[in-house]
Amino acid sequence: MSTIFDCSVLQLSKIHNRAGNITVVENFIHVPFSIQRIYYLYDIPGGESRGAHGHKELEQLIIAASGSFDVTLDDGINKKTVQLSRPYYGLNIKPGIWRDLSNFSSGAICLVLASLPYENEDYIRDYEAFIRFKKQSALLK
Ligand code: TYD
Repeated sequence: MSTIFDCSVLQLSKIHNRAGNITVVENFIHVPFSIQRIYYLYDIPGGESRGAHGHKELEQLIIAASGSFDVTLDDGINKKTVQLSRPYYGLNIKPGIWRDLSNFSSGAICLVLASLPYENEDYIRDYEAFIRFKKQSALLK
């Protein structure tokens, strides 16, 4: 089962010209999975935080498409906080990681590339249940 040390910030391509930049994300080239779903968070009120859940199977790449925010990762033992503030970096979150998103700047857009379709059963929304899931997964390893 993954730890926070398996989650890393990936540098994406940035194709620059005088009329602006383009960043491209292709399956298994810039992102280590096949993208099955894209969603984005926006119009986030000041002081609000999002996330506060884990996923059993889902892997994601989280990009600050505009503005900035912090992502705190927690594997039940260790925690780390990553600030995303450039659209050409993506935070790769492996399955089995609890995450909190906070400190959204005004106008921030959080773009999420996800490895699976939406499935409510893949969510673990209770922190104690998440810790039980991590312990169980470690025993089965
Ligand atoms: P959720 O993932 O809990 O949001 P966050 O972690 O950013 O606070 O999703 C919020 C709501 O949106 C929830 O009711 C489920 C719905 N939703 C979908 O229907 N499909 C999706 O792909 C996602 C990501 C959320």
